[in-house]
Amino acid sequence: MQEKLDAIRSAIGEGIGQTNTRKELFELKMKYLGKTGEISALSKGMRDVPAEERPAMGKLVSDVRAWAEAQFAEREEFLKRKEIEERYQNEKVDVTMPARFAETGTQHPVSLVKKEIIECFEGMGFEIYEGPEIEKDYYNFQALNIPADHPARDMQDTFFITGEYLLRSQTSSGQIRVMENKKPPIKILSPGRVYRSDSDATHSPMFHQMEGLVVDKGITLCDLKGILDEFARRLFTSETKTRLRPSYFPFTEPSVEVDLSCHNCGGKGCRICKGTGWIEILGAGMVNRRVLENCGIDPDEYTGFAFGMGLERIAMIKYGINDMRYLFENDVRLLKQFKD
Ligand code: PHE
Repeated sequence: MQEKLDAIRSAIGEGIGQTNTRKELFELKMKYLGKTGEISALSKGMRDVPAEERPAMGKLVSDVRAWAEAQFAEREEFLKRKEIEERYQNEKVDVTMPARFAETGTQHPVSLVKKEIIECFEGMGFEIYEGPEIEKDYYNFQALNIPADHPARDMQDTFFITGEYLLRSQTSSGQIRVMENKKPPIKILSPGRVYRSDSDATHSPMFHQMEGLVVDKGITLCDLKGILDEFARRLFTSETKTRLRPSYFPFTEPSVEVDLSCHNCGGKGCRICKGTGWIEILGAGMVNRRVLENCGIDPDEYTGFAFGMGLERIAMIKYGINDMRYLFENDVRLLKQFKD
C-alpha cells in the first residue's frame, strides 16, 4: 500500500509540475481526487482491508489526499497569478503610439446662410414649404408661363428625366404647388436644391435656391422692396440698401433684378463689387397674372410678389469666397473658417 501511495505522490508531484493552465490542472485533479479518481478508489477499497489494519491504512490514504489537495491548491494559485500576469502583458497600452484624431465637423457655409435667411423670414411671418426635386415640366415651366419651346427655357439648361419629368431648375415650381393648394393670404419661403447643366467658377450643376412668395389683396412692389430691405439689413449690415433694376422673367411682371449696396465698401466701389458699389443678389417681381390664373387665383382680386436667390451666391458674397467650387470640395480647412 505504502508503495502505491508513494507512486501516486510522485506521479501527482510530477504531473502538477507539467500543468500550464488551470484547465489542465483541473483535469489532473479529477484523475486523482475526482469521484472515480485514483485516491477516491483507494478510499473505497478500505472496505476490503482487514478491520485491524483499516485505521492505519485509512490514515495513510487520507494523508495523501490532504497532501494532494494542498498541492493542487498551491498550483492553482500559481497558475491564476500567471494568467493574470499574461493578460496584463497582452493588454498593455502602448502610450507612445500616435493617437487617432476624431475631426469634428462644422456647418457648411451654405447651411449657415440658409439657416440665417430662414430665421430672418420666419421672423416676418413666412412659412417654410419644401417641394420635390424631381418635378413635372408643368410645375417647373408651363404653369410659370414658360410653355414648351419658349425661348426663356434657354435661361435654364435643364436635366430632363423623361419628356414630362425633370430635375427642377428653380424653386419657383414651389410657387405653383403652394398656390394650387392654398388660398391667399400666402406667405411662404421655399428652400431647396435645384439643377442645371452648368459648371464653372460661379455655376454648379446642383445648387441651392430660396424662393419667396407673398400673395394677398393689395400687395405691391413697395412691399417687396420693404421686405428685401429688411432682409438685406439683417443678413449683411444695418447700412445695406437695395436697388431694383428692370429685368425679365416669364412668371413675374414687372420683373426686377435686385442689387445690394456693397457690404464691404459701403458703396464706394471695391474688389468685391467690381468697383460698382452694388452686388446683384436675386431675381424678383410681381407674380404674373397668367401664373395666378393658372392656379385658380383671381388676378383682379389678388396680387403678389415672388423672389428667388441662389444660396451659394449669397454665401460667396457674405464670406468673400471667389470660386463656387470651393463650396463643393468639402475641404475641412475651408469649412472650418465659417462659424455659426
Ligand atoms: N426662378 C428665378 C431663377 O431661378 C428667380 C426668380 C424667382 C425670379 C422668383 C423672379 C421671381 O432665375
